[in-house]
Amino acid sequence: MKLKLKIWRQKNSESKGKIIDYDIENISPDMSFLEMLDVLNADLISKDEDPVSFDHDCREGICGSCSLFINGQAHGPDRLVTTCQLHMRKFKDGDTIYIEPFRAKAFPVIKDLVVDRSAFDRIQHAGGYISVNTSGNTQDANSIPINKDDADSAFDAATCIGCGACVATCKNSSAMLFVGAKVSQYSLLPQGQTEASRRVINMVNQMDLEGFGNCSNTGACEVECPKGISLDNIARMNRELLKASVKK
Ligand code: SF4
Ligand code: FES
Repeated sequence: MKLKLKIWRQKNSESKGKIIDYDIENISPDMSFLEMLDVLNADLISKDEDPVSFDHDCREGICGSCSLFINGQAHGPDRLVTTCQLHMRKFKDGDTIYIEPFRAKAFPVIKDLVVDRSAFDRIQHAGGYISVNTSGNTQDANSIPINKDDADSAFDAATCIGCGACVATCKNSSAMLFVGAKVSQYSLLPQGQTEASRRVINMVNQMDLEGFGNCSNTGACEVECPKGISLDNIARMNRELLKASVKK
């Protein structure tokens, strides 16, 4: 396949970026999107040009690093996949592909397609943990009976990989789907109850401090989430927050 790539290039967080055109050929439909970018970068390096910076790590849909906006969609045109799981067979020979970073005030661009998502880490630090007695008499988690529906819903929430597609897709740059998933995965389990009130209050406060917008129920985040995280998690987080505020 031959393709025209229109890629956001930006030297650093201070500089102004712009779209630069690249022509690329000999792309196999079986390549992943990131392998296609590897081919481009090998070509740029051979010409002594600056390769395009983009984030990636596991390349198997687990780590959440490969945050790219492709033809106006977070993680590209496929559903329920990350950019690293997107294959070039989703495009046609001769296509023009726009590749941009995830854009949000709370995700500043570091270079080219790489954005700083440490705001998510700070939200996690604010409450994404449980206290465990490690004195040697810790109860085996499997010995605590948990309703199957709750266990399944907690597991579904825990599949959030923190990629940020929900934020990049939302017209308000809201992080409610991410925070809703992180709050839900603990609030549904007995192990998460000790810190339940302060967890939801602290995580929501941190989310607001980081400059994410509010939720206006468009549901775009759920559509673009590569892990299919449900909007139910936002509703659960709001209920948890109300409960915690009444208790205060
Ligand atoms: S909720 Fe979905 S889109 Fe948002 S960070 Fe988690 S996995 Fe990514
Ligand atoms: S590189 Fe890890 S999810 Fe894509």
